[in-house]
Amino acid sequence: MDSLVTATGRKSLEIIRDLVPGVDERRISKALNYAASLYGNHAMDLLPEITLYAHAVQTAEFLAEFCPDEDAIVAAILQHALSVPDASIADIGKEFGRPVRDIVSRIHLLSHLYTTDWRKSVDDMKIMLVSVADDVRVLLTALSVACVLLEQLEHVKSQYRMRLCRHSLQLFAPVAARLGIYALKYRLEKSAFPECYPTDAQHIGTQLKRLHSEHGQFLERTAEKLKIFLKEQGIDAEVMARQKQSYSIFQKMHMKSVTAIEKITDLFAIRVVVKTIPDCYQALGLLHQRATPISHRFKDYISFPKPNGYQSLHTCLMGLPDAPKDQMVEVQIRTAEMHREAEYGIAAHWSYKEGGRGSMVMNSVKQMELTDVLLKQQSVDDPVRAGENMTLVNHIYVLTPRGDIIELPEGGTPLDFAFNLHTDLGLRFKSARVNGAIVPISYKLENGDVVEIIANKHPRPTLQWLEELVTPSGRSKLKNYFFSHNRADFLTSGRDMVNAELKTRGQPPLDNEMSIIAKIDGKTIPQKEREDLLVKVGMGSIRTSSILRHVSPRPPQTKARTKTVAAKKDRVGIEGQALTMPYRFAKCCGPDTAIPKPEKIVGIVTRAGIICVHREGCGMTKSANAERKLKMFWKV
Ligand code: GTP
Ligand code: MG
Repeated sequence: MDSLVTATGRKSLEIIRDLVPGVDERRISKALNYAASLYGNHAMDLLPEITLYAHAVQTAEFLAEFCPDEDAIVAAILQHALSVPDASIADIGKEFGRPVRDIVSRIHLLSHLYTTDWRKSVDDMKIMLVSVADDVRVLLTALSVACVLLEQLEHVKSQYRMRLCRHSLQLFAPVAARLGIYALKYRLEKSAFPECYPTDAQHIGTQLKRLHSEHGQFLERTAEKLKIFLKEQGIDAEVMARQKQSYSIFQKMHMKSVTAIEKITDLFAIRVVVKTIPDCYQALGLLHQRATPISHRFKDYISFPKPNGYQSLHTCLMGLPDAPKDQMVEVQIRTAEMHREAEYGIAAHWSYKEGGRGSMVMNSVKQMELTDVLLKQQSVDDPVRAGENMTLVNHIYVLTPRGDIIELPEGGTPLDFAFNLHTDLGLRFKSARVNGAIVPISYKLENGDVVEIIANKHPRPTLQWLEELVTPSGRSKLKNYFFSHNRADFLTSGRDMVNAELKTRGQPPLDNEMSIIAKIDGKTIPQKEREDLLVKVGMGSIRTSSILRHVSPRPPQTKARTKTVAAKKDRVGIEGQALTMPYRFAKCCGPDTAIPKPEKIVGIVTRAGIICVHREGCGMTKSANAERKLKMFWKV
């Protein structure tokens, strides 16, 4: 085994080994050493008193409580790798394998979003969290990172503190609850609540103190007596006392619109853990005889589990031994297995089930369900929400191989990504790898993708690329390039296109000075700008007709022209309607001159009110407005 270079590492390995029996210590040691040399003495931005190494190790130890696989623990140790120089996503993949690489890049992305992206609403963040974390290990690590930070809240920089706590209450705790990991939900809420709602937390704290001084610490004694009582009746049970935690009290008071804590009926709770389901019902019956059950306060979540799978019997009792006479106590009865599920939820399946581990990758249905539930979640008197605009994300975040985070609109392609990084890289685009695999240029990127651009030595863009770009900035960079570099070609094709249009109007072609377009909307434009206009027509950025519309009214049609149109009139027809407009055959693809005749033809209604007949695949038809397109057929 590699010898561990730091004392922290040695201690941590021991902790992890104890918590996760059978863990591959060699791999954990390798990760600890790798992280130690990579992080050096870098401190956390959020928590300047703590080094990246110490925080990563703390997170790994915290996570180990949930018995995840080694990949998750290794990824927690390497979670900051992309925030320091000298490491890349590919290096991590090479050293520790693909699953670790994917978890690290996603955790890196999430911590960036939660700490630096202040613009997004909590709902946006919920969507981001669920879409980036399609692997439960990522979610659980993100929640563990938050817990570890919250436990040292007083050292967290003040500008991050409130945001961390709000996210914990509104985002991480609901996610933990939805995944059924109540052990995490409690820890998150316990630390974050007093920071977000200091007055309410203090108010509840004072009332709880008063209640305890009035009643004394009876709950532990009651639990002990119930354990003995059940034992006498032949049921082996673990009985634990539980004080409802402040944030749950706060939520309930809010829901019921009450200010006095006494109005909450389940402030004090006792948990009874037995071996079998019949034991649960038997214990329930016995307890209902031993004390007085409150009507309508009984719930059978064993026969009717909650949507997240939670199972237990809940009942409320008065007159329990050692409890004040008028004090209600909620009793939860469950089996040991149900108890483990209730604490660890989805994570409970990882290590215990038949020695194997359940799948940690959520399918899309599970993800959609989680997003849906999170978005419907009512937040209590949410002061944050009111001030935030609910944008509901329409953008994605992807990463460079170095871990830089790039924001793109939804539907963004590798080409958009390349232009976003650098115009030159966009122009030299050759191909792209997404998460290690070559993808087509039109590939729609998704949150968390790692994108690597393979570049040509020199720019080799094509006009087709304009259709692959969804970012306006990418499109305009590409157009600028064409405008200055392929000027001569586009000028020629622009001139040809304008001439073709002029011909249909019965007007002479452009002369050297392009005098027909010398005046646009009555304004004289210099020769250079006239050329620019033709270049743009050639590039397809503006339409021929839209220039000519501004130059002079369409002259009356000559006899000769009407004749040609009339002569051609019956060669083609429009599918489903009569051909009432004049038409002509396009010069660009010449469907009428081709031998054999192209099978499929399409008409485009020009602004001049003429149908221009193209071959179906002609490039000109692609840029045409769909409303102006007509399906046509040959008559002769
Ligand atoms: P009320 O009628 O509002 O009292 O509902 P309830 O008693 O069904 O649930 P409550 O919100 O009072 O929860 C009481 C305790 O049950 C909680 O503190 C948890 O320990 C446990 N519990 C309730 N719902 C869940 C759940 O979905 N998952 C887990 N793991 N525990 C739960
Ligand atoms: Mg209750």
